[in-house]
Amino acid sequence: MLRNKKIILGVCGGIAVYKAIELLRLLSKAGADVHVIMTRAAQEFVTPLTFQTLSGNPVHTELFNLIAEREIGHISLADRADLCIIAPATANCIGKIAAGIADDMLTTTVMATKAPVLFAPAMNVNMYTNPIYQENEDKLRRFGCRFVAPVSGSLACGWEGKGKLAPPEAIFEAAVSALSPRDLIGRKIMITAGPTREEIDPVRFISNYSSGKMGYALARAAQLRGAEVLLISGPTALPKPDGVRVVNVTSAVEMQNEVMTRLDGCDVIIKAAAVADYRPKMRSSTKIKKKADSTTIELVKNPDILAELGAINTGIKRRPFLVGFAAETDALVENASKKLKEKNLDMIVANDVSQVDSGFNVDTNRALLFFRDGSSSDCGLMSKDQLAGTILDYIITHLP
Ligand code: CTP
Repeated sequence: MLRNKKIILGVCGGIAVYKAIELLRLLSKAGADVHVIMTRAAQEFVTPLTFQTLSGNPVHTELFNLIAEREIGHISLADRADLCIIAPATANCIGKIAAGIADDMLTTTVMATKAPVLFAPAMNVNMYTNPIYQENEDKLRRFGCRFVAPVSGSLACGWEGKGKLAPPEAIFEAAVSALSPRDLIGRKIMITAGPTREEIDPVRFISNYSSGKMGYALARAAQLRGAEVLLISGPTALPKPDGVRVVNVTSAVEMQNEVMTRLDGCDVIIKAAAVADYRPKMRSSTKIKKKADSTTIELVKNPDILAELGAINTGIKRRPFLVGFAAETDALVENASKKLKEKNLDMIVANDVSQVDSGFNVDTNRALLFFRDGSSSDCGLMSKDQLAGTILDYIITHLP
Protein backbone atom coordinates (compact mmCIF):
# COMPACT_ATOMS: atom_id res chain seq x y z
CA MET A 1 0.00 0.00 0.00
CA LEU A 2 2.96 2.33 0.48
CA ARG A 3 4.79 1.34 -2.71
CA ASN A 4 6.00 4.46 -4.56
CA LYS A 5 4.12 6.75 -2.19
CA LYS A 6 5.92 10.01 -1.47
CA ILE A 7 6.05 10.48 2.26
CA ILE A 8 7.42 13.48 4.13
CA LEU A 9 8.84 12.42 7.49
CA GLY A 10 9.17 15.48 9.71
CA VAL A 11 11.48 14.91 12.68
CA CYS A 12 11.43 17.24 15.68
CA GLY A 13 13.96 17.39 18.52
CA GLY A 14 13.60 14.84 21.30
CA ILE A 15 15.19 11.70 22.61
CA ALA A 16 12.64 9.67 20.59
CA VAL A 17 14.39 10.74 17.34
CA TYR A 18 16.07 7.35 17.27
CA LYS A 19 12.66 5.72 16.84
CA ALA A 20 12.07 7.86 13.74
CA ILE A 21 15.02 6.05 12.19
CA GLU A 22 13.24 2.73 12.71
CA LEU A 23 10.04 4.23 11.28
CA LEU A 24 11.97 5.40 8.21
CA ARG A 25 13.32 1.89 7.77
CA LEU A 26 9.80 0.41 7.89
CA LEU A 27 8.47 2.95 5.40
CA SER A 28 11.37 2.44 2.99
CA LYS A 29 11.09 -1.35 3.25
CA ALA A 30 7.42 -1.04 2.27
CA GLY A 31 8.49 0.77 -0.91
CA ALA A 32 7.73 4.37 0.09
CA ASP A 33 9.85 7.24 -1.20
CA VAL A 34 10.61 9.07 2.03
CA HIS A 35 11.82 12.69 2.23
CA VAL A 36 12.99 13.70 5.67
CA ILE A 37 12.75 17.18 7.10
CA MET A 38 14.64 17.74 10.36
CA THR A 39 14.16 20.68 12.67
CA ARG A 40 17.25 22.34 14.11
CA ALA A 41 16.59 20.69 17.51
CA ALA A 42 16.33 17.23 15.89
CA GLN A 43 19.85 17.67 14.49
CA GLU A 44 21.15 18.00 18.07
CA PHE A 45 20.20 14.34 18.61
CA VAL A 46 21.01 12.67 15.26
CA THR A 47 22.84 13.95 12.20
CA PRO A 48 20.98 14.32 8.87
CA LEU A 49 23.43 11.84 7.36
CA THR A 50 21.71 8.94 9.14
CA PHE A 51 18.32 9.81 7.62
CA GLN A 52 19.89 10.61 4.26
CA THR A 53 21.64 7.24 4.07
CA LEU A 54 18.51 5.29 5.01
CA SER A 55 16.06 7.25 2.83
CA GLY A 56 18.34 7.64 -0.17
CA ASN A 57 17.12 11.23 -0.45
CA PRO A 58 18.71 14.50 0.69
CA VAL A 59 17.50 15.61 4.11
CA HIS A 60 15.86 19.04 4.29
CA THR A 61 16.95 21.20 7.16
CA GLU A 62 16.87 24.80 5.95
CA LEU A 63 13.89 26.81 4.78
CA PHE A 64 16.03 28.82 2.39
CA ASN A 65 18.38 26.51 0.60
CA LEU A 66 19.96 28.02 -2.53
CA ILE A 67 19.85 24.78 -4.53
CA ALA A 68 16.45 23.49 -3.44
CA GLU A 69 14.93 26.95 -3.65
CA ARG A 70 15.34 26.94 -7.42
CA GLU A 71 12.07 25.04 -7.31
CA ILE A 72 10.99 26.50 -3.95
CA GLY A 73 11.93 23.45 -1.87
CA HIS A 74 9.20 23.46 0.72
CA ILE A 75 6.42 24.09 -1.80
CA SER A 76 7.50 21.42 -4.27
CA LEU A 77 7.93 18.86 -1.48
CA ALA A 78 4.53 19.78 -0.05
CA ASP A 79 2.89 19.50 -3.50
CA ARG A 80 4.36 16.11 -4.32
CA ALA A 81 3.66 14.42 -0.97
CA ASP A 82 1.02 11.71 -0.55
CA LEU A 83 1.35 11.83 3.25
CA CYS A 84 3.15 13.90 5.84
CA ILE A 85 4.17 12.20 9.09
CA ILE A 86 5.67 14.14 11.98
CA ALA A 87 7.40 11.78 14.41
CA PRO A 88 8.39 12.65 17.02
CA ALA A 89 6.16 15.72 17.09
CA THR A 90 6.96 18.07 19.95
CA ALA A 91 4.46 20.25 21.82
CA ASN A 92 6.26 23.24 20.29
CA CYS A 93 5.89 22.03 16.70
CA ILE A 94 2.23 21.02 17.19
CA GLY A 95 1.53 24.37 18.87
CA LYS A 96 3.14 26.30 16.03
CA ILE A 97 1.23 24.43 13.34
CA ALA A 98 -2.05 24.80 15.27
CA ALA A 99 -1.39 28.55 15.49
CA GLY A 100 -0.58 28.83 11.79
CA ILE A 101 3.09 29.66 12.35
CA ALA A 102 5.38 28.65 9.51
CA ASP A 103 8.91 29.68 10.41
CA ASP A 104 11.05 26.70 9.42
CA MET A 105 11.19 24.05 6.69
CA LEU A 106 8.91 21.61 8.55
CA THR A 107 6.12 23.96 9.65
CA THR A 108 6.15 25.71 6.25
CA THR A 109 5.83 22.41 4.41
CA VAL A 110 2.96 21.26 6.65
CA MET A 111 1.17 24.57 6.03
CA ALA A 112 1.63 24.22 2.27
CA THR A 113 0.65 20.57 1.81
CA LYS A 114 -2.74 19.22 0.84
CA ALA A 115 -1.65 15.70 1.81
CA PRO A 116 -3.00 14.08 4.99
CA VAL A 117 -0.94 14.95 8.06
CA LEU A 118 -0.20 12.41 10.78
CA PHE A 119 1.31 13.50 14.10
CA ALA A 120 3.03 11.11 16.53
CA PRO A 121 3.55 13.27 19.61
CA ALA A 122 6.28 12.68 22.20
CA MET A 123 6.74 14.90 25.23
CA ASN A 124 6.74 15.14 29.00
CA VAL A 125 3.50 13.87 30.59
CA ASN A 126 2.63 17.27 32.07
CA MET A 127 3.12 18.93 28.70
CA TYR A 128 0.92 16.27 27.12
CA THR A 129 -1.92 16.75 29.60
CA ASN A 130 -1.59 20.55 29.57
CA PRO A 131 -4.90 21.97 28.31
CA ILE A 132 -3.01 24.26 25.93
CA TYR A 133 -1.47 21.23 24.21
CA GLN A 134 -4.78 19.32 24.29
CA GLU A 135 -6.60 22.24 22.70
CA ASN A 136 -3.98 22.43 19.94
CA GLU A 137 -4.38 18.71 19.25
CA ASP A 138 -8.20 19.03 19.19
CA LYS A 139 -7.94 21.94 16.79
CA LEU A 140 -5.69 20.03 14.40
CA ARG A 141 -7.97 16.97 14.61
CA ARG A 142 -10.92 19.19 13.66
CA PHE A 143 -8.96 20.22 10.56
CA GLY A 144 -8.56 16.55 9.61
CA CYS A 145 -5.09 15.85 11.00
CA ARG A 146 -4.54 12.39 12.47
CA PHE A 147 -2.72 11.51 15.68
CA VAL A 148 -1.02 8.36 16.93
CA ALA A 149 -1.33 8.73 20.69
CA PRO A 150 1.83 8.49 22.79
CA VAL A 151 2.14 5.55 25.16
CA SER A 152 2.75 5.38 28.91
CA GLY A 153 6.09 4.55 30.45
CA SER A 154 9.12 6.09 32.06
CA LEU A 155 9.98 9.25 30.17
CA ALA A 156 13.43 10.62 29.36
CA CYS A 157 12.77 13.55 31.71
CA GLY A 158 12.45 11.16 34.67
CA TRP A 159 8.65 11.29 34.91
CA GLU A 160 6.34 8.27 34.57
CA GLY A 161 3.25 8.65 32.41
CA LYS A 162 1.83 9.14 28.93
CA GLY A 163 4.23 10.88 26.59
CA LYS A 164 6.48 8.24 25.02
CA LEU A 165 6.45 8.15 21.23
CA ALA A 166 4.18 5.34 19.99
CA PRO A 167 6.12 2.30 18.69
CA PRO A 168 7.33 2.73 15.07
CA GLU A 169 5.08 -0.21 14.03
CA ALA A 170 1.98 1.61 15.32
CA ILE A 171 2.94 4.80 13.44
CA PHE A 172 3.58 2.70 10.32
CA GLU A 173 0.10 1.11 10.63
CA ALA A 174 -1.46 4.57 11.00
CA ALA A 175 0.41 5.67 7.84
CA VAL A 176 -0.94 2.67 5.92
CA SER A 177 -4.43 3.48 7.19
CA ALA A 178 -4.12 7.16 6.19
CA LEU A 179 -3.17 6.13 2.64
CA SER A 180 -5.79 3.42 2.21
CA PRO A 181 -8.83 4.22 0.08
CA ARG A 182 -12.04 3.96 2.14
CA ASP A 183 -13.93 2.26 -0.67
CA LEU A 184 -15.35 -0.63 1.39
CA ILE A 185 -17.24 1.43 3.94
CA GLY A 186 -20.66 -0.12 4.56
CA ARG A 187 -19.58 -3.52 3.19
CA LYS A 188 -19.54 -6.67 5.30
CA ILE A 189 -16.87 -9.19 4.33
CA MET A 190 -16.35 -12.68 5.69
CA ILE A 191 -12.91 -14.19 5.21
CA THR A 192 -11.76 -17.69 6.12
CA ALA A 193 -8.05 -18.29 6.68
CA GLY A 194 -5.49 -20.84 7.76
CA PRO A 195 -5.60 -24.62 7.80
CA THR A 196 -8.10 -26.85 9.53
CA ARG A 197 -7.02 -29.64 11.86
CA GLU A 198 -8.75 -32.98 11.86
CA GLU A 199 -8.05 -34.85 15.07
CA ILE A 200 -7.02 -38.49 15.10
CA ASP A 201 -6.67 -38.69 18.88
CA PRO A 202 -5.89 -36.16 21.66
CA VAL A 203 -2.27 -35.75 20.48
CA ARG A 204 -2.42 -36.14 16.68
CA PHE A 205 -4.15 -34.51 13.76
CA ILE A 206 -4.26 -34.27 9.95
CA SER A 207 -3.61 -30.79 8.56
CA ASN A 208 -1.65 -28.90 5.89
CA TYR A 209 1.09 -26.25 5.58
CA SER A 210 -1.22 -23.22 5.35
CA SER A 211 0.05 -20.36 7.54
CA GLY A 212 -3.05 -18.17 7.16
CA LYS A 213 -0.93 -15.25 5.85
CA MET A 214 -3.02 -14.64 2.71
CA GLY A 215 -6.36 -14.64 4.55
CA TYR A 216 -5.02 -12.39 7.31
CA ALA A 217 -3.54 -9.98 4.72
CA LEU A 218 -6.99 -9.80 3.08
CA ALA A 219 -8.70 -9.20 6.44
CA ARG A 220 -6.29 -6.40 7.34
CA ALA A 221 -6.55 -4.74 3.90
CA ALA A 222 -10.36 -4.92 3.89
CA GLN A 223 -10.53 -3.45 7.40
CA LEU A 224 -8.21 -0.59 6.43
CA ARG A 225 -10.47 0.14 3.47
CA GLY A 226 -13.44 0.53 5.79
CA ALA A 227 -15.16 -2.88 5.58
CA GLU A 228 -16.70 -4.66 8.55
CA VAL A 229 -14.57 -7.79 8.56
CA LEU A 230 -15.31 -11.17 10.10
CA LEU A 231 -12.34 -13.53 10.01
CA ILE A 232 -13.03 -17.23 10.57
CA SER A 233 -9.62 -18.62 11.28
CA GLY A 234 -8.18 -22.08 11.59
CA PRO A 235 -5.15 -22.49 13.90
CA THR A 236 -2.37 -20.02 12.96
CA ALA A 237 0.51 -18.28 14.73
CA LEU A 238 -0.55 -14.85 13.42
CA PRO A 239 -1.61 -11.89 15.57
CA LYS A 240 -5.25 -10.80 15.35
CA PRO A 241 -5.52 -7.93 12.83
CA ASP A 242 -6.64 -4.66 14.47
CA GLY A 243 -10.34 -3.88 14.16
CA VAL A 244 -11.22 -7.32 12.78
CA ARG A 245 -13.67 -9.69 14.52
CA VAL A 246 -12.00 -13.09 14.70
CA VAL A 247 -13.75 -16.41 15.29
CA ASN A 248 -11.29 -19.23 15.94
CA VAL A 249 -12.08 -22.74 14.74
CA THR A 250 -10.12 -25.97 14.53
CA SER A 251 -11.84 -28.45 12.21
CA ALA A 252 -13.57 -28.18 8.83
CA VAL A 253 -16.94 -29.00 10.44
CA GLU A 254 -16.47 -26.19 12.98
CA MET A 255 -15.54 -23.82 10.15
CA GLN A 256 -18.63 -24.90 8.21
CA ASN A 257 -20.87 -24.19 11.25
CA GLU A 258 -19.40 -20.73 11.84
CA VAL A 259 -19.56 -19.76 8.17
CA MET A 260 -23.12 -20.97 7.64
CA THR A 261 -24.54 -19.33 10.75
CA ARG A 262 -22.89 -15.97 10.11
CA LEU A 263 -23.32 -15.38 6.40
CA ASP A 264 -26.51 -13.31 6.49
CA GLY A 265 -25.81 -9.70 5.50
CA CYS A 266 -22.39 -10.49 4.00
CA ASP A 267 -21.62 -8.66 0.75
CA VAL A 268 -18.52 -10.74 0.05
CA ILE A 269 -17.18 -14.10 1.23
CA ILE A 270 -13.53 -14.91 0.55
CA LYS A 271 -12.55 -18.51 1.26
CA ALA A 272 -8.78 -18.37 1.62
CA ALA A 273 -8.71 -21.23 4.15
CA ALA A 274 -7.00 -24.47 3.23
CA VAL A 275 -9.75 -26.77 4.43
CA ALA A 276 -8.76 -30.41 4.98
CA ASP A 277 -10.73 -32.48 2.49
CA TYR A 278 -10.98 -35.52 4.78
CA ARG A 279 -11.16 -36.26 8.50
CA PRO A 280 -10.66 -39.53 10.39
CA LYS A 281 -13.91 -41.50 10.53
CA MET A 282 -13.29 -42.22 14.21
CA ARG A 283 -11.53 -39.92 16.68
CA SER A 284 -10.02 -41.91 19.53
CA SER A 285 -10.65 -40.29 22.91
CA THR A 286 -7.38 -41.73 24.22
CA LYS A 287 -3.93 -41.73 22.67
CA ILE A 288 -3.64 -44.52 20.10
CA LYS A 289 -0.82 -46.87 21.12
CA LYS A 290 1.76 -48.22 18.72
CA LYS A 291 1.17 -51.92 18.11
CA ALA A 292 1.20 -53.45 14.62
CA ASP A 293 3.89 -52.68 12.01
CA SER A 294 1.39 -50.94 9.82
CA THR A 295 -1.95 -49.34 10.49
CA THR A 296 -4.78 -47.73 8.58
CA ILE A 297 -6.84 -44.69 9.41
CA GLU A 298 -10.17 -44.59 7.64
CA LEU A 299 -11.02 -41.10 6.38
CA VAL A 300 -14.37 -39.60 5.49
CA LYS A 301 -15.00 -36.58 3.30
CA ASN A 302 -15.39 -33.18 4.94
CA PRO A 303 -18.13 -30.83 3.82
CA ASP A 304 -17.04 -28.60 0.93
CA ILE A 305 -17.96 -25.27 2.50
CA LEU A 306 -17.36 -23.22 -0.63
CA ALA A 307 -19.44 -25.52 -2.82
CA GLU A 308 -22.21 -25.32 -0.22
CA LEU A 309 -22.05 -21.51 -0.36
CA GLY A 310 -22.09 -21.57 -4.15
CA ALA A 311 -25.24 -23.70 -4.11
CA ILE A 312 -27.18 -21.26 -1.91
CA ASN A 313 -29.96 -19.48 -3.72
CA THR A 314 -32.54 -18.96 -1.03
CA GLY A 315 -32.67 -18.41 2.72
CA ILE A 316 -30.51 -15.30 2.73
CA LYS A 317 -31.54 -11.92 1.38
CA ARG A 318 -28.92 -11.80 -1.33
CA ARG A 319 -26.13 -14.09 -2.45
CA PRO A 320 -22.76 -12.68 -1.38
CA PHE A 321 -19.99 -12.21 -3.98
CA LEU A 322 -18.14 -15.49 -3.65
CA VAL A 323 -14.36 -15.74 -3.95
CA GLY A 324 -12.51 -19.05 -3.75
CA PHE A 325 -8.85 -19.97 -3.78
CA ALA A 326 -7.32 -22.80 -5.75
CA ALA A 327 -4.09 -24.21 -4.40
CA GLU A 328 -2.60 -26.32 -7.17
CA THR A 329 0.64 -28.09 -7.91
CA ASP A 330 -0.19 -28.83 -11.58
CA ALA A 331 -2.67 -27.91 -14.35
CA LEU A 332 -3.32 -24.58 -12.59
CA VAL A 333 -5.54 -22.99 -15.21
CA GLU A 334 -7.68 -26.07 -15.87
CA ASN A 335 -8.15 -26.94 -12.20
CA ALA A 336 -8.93 -23.37 -11.12
CA SER A 337 -11.41 -22.84 -13.97
CA LYS A 338 -13.10 -26.13 -13.10
CA LYS A 339 -13.46 -25.11 -9.44
CA LEU A 340 -14.82 -21.69 -10.43
CA LYS A 341 -17.54 -23.36 -12.49
CA GLU A 342 -18.34 -26.37 -10.32
CA LYS A 343 -18.51 -24.39 -7.06
CA ASN A 344 -20.50 -21.61 -8.80
CA LEU A 345 -18.08 -18.82 -7.79
CA ASP A 346 -17.81 -15.20 -8.90
CA MET A 347 -14.03 -15.24 -8.78
CA ILE A 348 -11.17 -17.63 -7.99
CA VAL A 349 -7.58 -16.87 -7.00
CA ALA A 350 -5.33 -19.59 -8.35
CA ASN A 351 -1.82 -20.13 -7.14
CA ASP A 352 0.84 -22.70 -7.78
CA VAL A 353 1.83 -23.93 -4.33
CA SER A 354 4.73 -25.97 -5.69
CA GLN A 355 6.75 -22.74 -6.29
CA VAL A 356 9.05 -21.48 -3.53
CA ASP A 357 7.76 -17.89 -3.80
CA SER A 358 4.07 -18.75 -4.06
CA GLY A 359 1.74 -20.54 -1.72
CA PHE A 360 2.03 -21.82 1.83
CA ASN A 361 4.07 -20.13 4.53
CA VAL A 362 5.85 -17.48 2.41
CA ASP A 363 5.24 -13.72 2.24
CA THR A 364 4.82 -13.60 -1.54
CA ASN A 365 2.36 -15.06 -4.01
CA ARG A 366 1.98 -15.48 -7.77
CA ALA A 367 -1.70 -15.47 -8.53
CA LEU A 368 -3.95 -15.81 -11.52
CA LEU A 369 -7.47 -14.45 -11.11
CA PHE A 370 -10.42 -15.96 -12.98
CA PHE A 371 -13.90 -14.45 -13.12
CA ARG A 372 -17.39 -15.78 -13.75
CA ASP A 373 -17.62 -13.88 -17.08
CA GLY A 374 -14.63 -15.81 -18.45
CA SER A 375 -12.09 -12.99 -18.03
CA SER A 376 -8.82 -13.48 -16.17
CA SER A 377 -5.84 -11.52 -14.88
CA ASP A 378 -2.24 -12.50 -14.17
CA CYS A 379 -1.02 -10.69 -11.04
CA GLY A 380 2.61 -11.85 -11.31
CA LEU A 381 4.83 -12.08 -8.24
CA MET A 382 3.85 -9.76 -5.40
CA SER A 383 3.73 -9.65 -1.63
CA LYS A 384 0.63 -11.15 0.01
CA ASP A 385 -0.25 -7.63 1.24
CA GLN A 386 -0.10 -6.29 -2.32
CA LEU A 387 -2.07 -9.22 -3.66
CA ALA A 388 -4.71 -8.65 -0.98
CA GLY A 389 -5.10 -5.05 -2.23
CA THR A 390 -5.32 -6.21 -5.85
CA ILE A 391 -7.94 -8.88 -5.04
CA LEU A 392 -10.04 -6.26 -3.21
CA ASP A 393 -9.69 -3.85 -6.17
CA TYR A 394 -11.14 -6.51 -8.47
CA ILE A 395 -13.91 -7.42 -6.03
CA ILE A 396 -14.98 -3.77 -5.72
CA THR A 397 -15.30 -3.37 -9.47
CA HIS A 398 -17.64 -6.38 -9.55
CA LEU A 399 -19.87 -5.46 -6.60
CA PRO A 400 -23.39 -4.18 -7.29
N1 CTP B 1 -12.80 -25.47 0.25
C1 CTP B 1 -13.86 -25.53 1.14
N2 CTP B 1 -14.16 -26.70 1.78
C2 CTP B 1 -13.45 -27.81 1.52
C3 CTP B 1 -12.37 -27.78 0.61
C4 CTP B 1 -12.07 -26.57 0.00
O1 CTP B 1 -14.51 -24.52 1.37
N3 CTP B 1 -13.76 -28.94 2.14
C5 CTP B 1 -12.52 -24.21 -0.45
C6 CTP B 1 -11.18 -23.61 -0.11
O2 CTP B 1 -11.31 -22.70 0.98
C7 CTP B 1 -10.82 -22.89 -1.39
C8 CTP B 1 -11.48 -23.73 -2.47
O3 CTP B 1 -12.49 -24.49 -1.82
O4 CTP B 1 -11.36 -21.59 -1.47
C9 CTP B 1 -10.58 -24.66 -3.20
O5 CTP B 1 -9.83 -25.44 -2.29
P1 CTP B 1 -8.72 -26.46 -2.81
O6 CTP B 1 -8.12 -27.13 -1.61
O7 CTP B 1 -7.82 -25.78 -3.78
O8 CTP B 1 -9.55 -27.46 -3.67
P2 CTP B 1 -10.56 -28.60 -3.34
O9 CTP B 1 -11.93 -28.14 -3.70
O10 CTP B 1 -10.37 -29.11 -1.96
O11 CTP B 1 -10.16 -29.71 -4.40
P3 CTP B 1 -8.76 -30.55 -4.53
O12 CTP B 1 -8.27 -30.73 -3.11
O13 CTP B 1 -9.17 -31.79 -5.18
O14 CTP B 1 -7.85 -29.72 -5.37
